[in-house]
Amino acid sequence: MKNDIEEVLISEDEIQQKIKELGAQISKDYKGRVPILISILKGGVIFLVDLMRHISIPIEIEFLGVASYGSSTESSGIIKLTKDCNYDISNRDIILVEDIIDTGLSIKYIINLLKNKNPKSIKTCVLLDKPEAHKQDIKIDYKGFTVPNKFVVGYGLDYKEKYRNLPFIGILKKEIYQ
Ligand code: IMP
Ligand code: MG
Repeated sequence: MKNDIEEVLISEDEIQQKIKELGAQISKDYKGRVPILISILKGGVIFLVDLMRHISIPIEIEFLGVASYGSSTESSGIIKLTKDCNYDISNRDIILVEDIIDTGLSIKYIINLLKNKNPKSIKTCVLLDKPEAHKQDIKIDYKGFTVPNKFVVGYGLDYKEKYRNLPFIGILKKEIYQ
């Protein structure tokens, strides 16, 4: 699998260090509260399970599933809910945990969906941001890294459902797409 990688953009150590910092910051900001971390399936799960172990205050977790149709390396903008949130989140503090903001269409859709359930607050915690690809104005409250407008894999991010288990973020060799 590693032989399919052209370049490692963010190493395992860099990711883990950043997650420690994000966990410490969330613990500080939410002291005295019990936020619900909602992770977006499937890509956000790897990030959630590492992040939650660096949060020292009580938290709860929940999952939401969305799929965006289109070719495998570009968002179509057509988003389908594959798993709704079955939790009562009214009057609760929500932290959305997502792998990457590309166009921003998925997270926008999710934020609107959750707003209808009357939470007290919604903040976003995103491992990777691709600012050049944004089509929506999205506020990222906790951000890991900024990446160039290239298709990346690893640490939850897939190409045709593979490569999610790589512990780093990398760029695939061109021949893999052919
Ligand atoms: P967005 O709606 O365009 O912001 O992107 C939504 C989803 O597309 C992300 O949660 C990822 O699952 C996927 N995605 C976007 N960019 C990449 C990438 O570079 N590699 C792998 N998946 C990506
Ligand atoms: Mg994906």
